[in-house]
Amino acid sequence: MVFSRLMRWSFASAVWAGGGWAEILYAGVNSAGGEFAQQNLPGTFGVDWQFINESAIDFFFEQGVNTIRLPFLLERMCPIETGLGSTIDESYLSEFQKAVNYITLKGGYAILDAHNYMRYNDPSMQPFSGSIIGNTSDPRAATTEQLASFWSALSSRFLSNPNVIFGLMNEPHTMPTSLVFLNNQASIDAIRETGAEQLILVPGNGFTGGHRWLNTTCDIEEDGGCTPNSEVMINIEDPAQNFAFDMHLYFDNDTSGTHEECTTAAPDNLIPVTAWLAENNYTAFLSEFGAGVTPTCHETLNGTLKWLEDNEVWVGWTYWAAGPLWGDYFLSVEPGVGVQANSTWPQVLEPHVEGYQPMQRCGVSGSRREKEGVEGLIKALEGCLGLKML
Ligand SMILES: *[C@@H]1O[C@H](CO)[C@@H](O)[C@H](O)[C@H]1NC(C)=O
Ligand SMILES: *[C@@H]1O[C@H](CO)[C@@H](O)[C@H](O)[C@H]1NC(C)=O
Ligand SMILES: *[C@@H]1O[C@H](CO)[C@@H](O)[C@H](O)[C@H]1NC(C)=O
Ligand SMILES: *[C@@H]1O[C@H](CO)[C@@H](O)[C@H](O)[C@H]1NC(C)=O
Ligand SMILES: *[C@@H]1O[C@H](CO)[C@@H](O)[C@H](O)[C@H]1NC(C)=O
Ligand SMILES: *[C@@H]1O[C@H](CO)[C@@H](O)[C@H](O)[C@H]1NC(C)=O
Ligand SMILES: *[C@@H]1O[C@H](CO)[C@@H](O)[C@H](O)[C@H]1NC(C)=O
Repeated sequence: MVFSRLMRWSFASAVWAGGGWAEILYAGVNSAGGEFAQQNLPGTFGVDWQFINESAIDFFFEQGVNTIRLPFLLERMCPIETGLGSTIDESYLSEFQKAVNYITLKGGYAILDAHNYMRYNDPSMQPFSGSIIGNTSDPRAATTEQLASFWSALSSRFLSNPNVIFGLMNEPHTMPTSLVFLNNQASIDAIRETGAEQLILVPGNGFTGGHRWLNTTCDIEEDGGCTPNSEVMINIEDPAQNFAFDMHLYFDNDTSGTHEECTTAAPDNLIPVTAWLAENNYTAFLSEFGAGVTPTCHETLNGTLKWLEDNEVWVGWTYWAAGPLWGDYFLSVEPGVGVQANSTWPQVLEPHVEGYQPMQRCGVSGSRREKEGVEGLIKALEGCLGLKML
């Protein structure tokens, strides 16, 4: 059954290839919740935390999306007692795997999002609490090596699932950009050493804000401070050449995504980073963006999606946010219950997704569009059948 569906998709893609590939490879939503109630460790499944509601995922797939970003909390995946590293809490992991498998067995992509702001050991007041990973002046801090060892262990668990995407870290901030770089690079190397080939999303400093990728993002002085990501991240090397930069964007007055009104000049504020990506032959993924239910916000969201569609360096997006535990959170698109379920999702976002069809793809998650024509068809079939054809 899964097989025949894959075949249908690949032929649909092949037909599509004749007219040029759709520009957006990945589109969908965050399903937040696995990281909730972070002051309660480990917390109770279904009360404090929960990754997905399966019927919500069904709804989004029926609507044509192909990607769900799944935040998890490092202190639940690696309890503080054993520390950050290769010892994983099997009961938390098994709920996470259940959610990942639910998504990927439907042919979708799941982004494994370490939702920790590059901090570990005290998530109670995220995004500001906890020791900065790799801060050698802080004896309580987890090390860069421990982070790498964690990614080695987690990616090993998903080695055989081509439809996962590794989201190295949610929103590093207020730390030396050089340390964000070191932690990213060590994580990439650790993942590739396991043999994992899937797409890796690489974040920057400054809450990984796309609008300030070329700017200094804070005023700390240690280790060069918050040097622009554009100057530091150009040194990222991926042996598998399969990464995209992970970026976020909010539209309220302090770009925090906590106010109803949209006042930023999006998508114009993406002009600098889009040019940087193109100049350096990189791709990027907008894994968080969200805006209130106002005419200005809807216009801003619509314009931002059009920008991503018009600029091929942008390969995907996931809206913030669906999730089973949001209640009346102002950005929730959780079907049926979310504040935006009957407005922003059907009116603004879903029409874009409709335009991307067919979105289903075969093969390992990738950072780039596949080749067109016969070569593209062969690659797609290789992916579907798990065969090398040439
Ligand atoms: C999932 O969503 C359905 C439909 O909205 C709802 O009836 C159900 O209670 C939810 N289940 C959980 C576990 O959140
Ligand atoms: C690193 O740790 C030291 C010691 O706790 C602290 O003073 C310093 O502020 C930390 N670095 C950053 C960037 O927070
Ligand atoms: C980034 O720097 C440019 C040039 O100095 C400036 O015009 C822009 O306002 C800055 N953007 C942000 C988000 O700080
Ligand atoms: C761009 O990057 C990709 C993947 O990293 C590489 O395969 C390709 O050769 C690069 N193209 C140019 C023009 O440098
Ligand atoms: C942003 O707008 C809110 C009202 O929505 C206001 O309370 C706050 O002071 C504003 N912040 C800035 C930095 O302008
Ligand atoms: C959205 O519409 C559905 C179907 O009409 C309805 O059941 C649901 O209560 C509405 N949700 C909200 C948050 O208004
Ligand atoms: C989004 O923009 C397109 C033009 O790019 C327009 O046709 C459409 O009506 C807009 N949608 C909304 C909800 O404003």
